Amino acid sequence: MSTSKLKERVVRHSPSTGAGSPDVWGIYEPDTGSIQYVCADPATRQAALIDVVWNLDPKNYRFSTESMEQVLDLVRQNGLTVRWILDTHPHADHVMASAHLKERTGAPTALGDKVHDIARLWAKLYNLPDAFDPARDFDRLFAAGETFRIGELEVRVMLSPGHTLGSITYVCGDAAFTHDTLMQPDVGTSRADFPGGDAGQLWDSIQAILALPRDTRLFVGHDYGTDDRDEPQWEATVAQHRAGNRHVKDGTRREDWIKKRNERDATLPLPDRILAALQINLRGGRLPAPEADRHSYLKIPVNRF
Ligand SMILES: [Fe+2]
Repeated sequence: MSTSKLKERVVRHSPSTGAGSPDVWGIYEPDTGSIQYVCADPATRQAALIDVVWNLDPKNYRFSTESMEQVLDLVRQNGLTVRWILDTHPHADHVMASAHLKERTGAPTALGDKVHDIARLWAKLYNLPDAFDPARDFDRLFAAGETFRIGELEVRVMLSPGHTLGSITYVCGDAAFTHDTLMQPDVGTSRADFPGGDAGQLWDSIQAILALPRDTRLFVGHDYGTDDRDEPQWEATVAQHRAGNRHVKDGTRREDWIKKRNERDATLPLPDRILAALQINLRGGRLPAPEADRHSYLKIPVNRF
């Protein structure tokens, strides 16, 4: 009996398709079903790391670094130089490796500037009024429409709210890193029920992504397989989503999808790492300062979620 590849740290290369197009590697993190990305300029070998995971065991709250080591090995094996440590949003399902990767590579960390709104929301939910300061804890906070470079390649930032208040999509040539908006065509779309989430906004964000050129390679944030598929997948084009995405293919009506999305979200449990992840991710991927006994402690709201 074959073992499910959904339990393996699968790596897949999506080669540049020509001028202005990046080389992209996807690296699967099986515990959270996250896909981490390396986006590189073939000409200069300069690269950005996107949504890399700091591994956390939610049973004993012990951290480990398998995923970031795997990503850094891939960088070395391909002779790449890390220029950016990017996140698309302060994740609720996993802890960001950003602060560690910054230490290891010297590259700046970045996120969308609406993280300030997310920080304010969660500061109340944790009753930690002064804990989160994104301007201090991230090197760059991108505004919607802002551009930056990975070597000779330009990257454009799209604001894509709905899953969170401040999620952003990175568009680099014919590649777009769409995080938790779309899921693979045989799955559908991401959830919109976390604090600050909104299904109507998520629909509008998805439509903006599906308005990109039809041959754009869309790289999603998560995959858990399906009843018929036990191998992780994370890449499909705009054309493939528009033709066959189970939830939002062409002809789907906005109000129908919003109704279905909200009904589905009402059945979903919270991710098991959410209350640990947000308070670390909103500190740029850093633990709370150690207490007098030199141990760090997380704060968990009780009877609140
Ligand atoms: Fe997410």
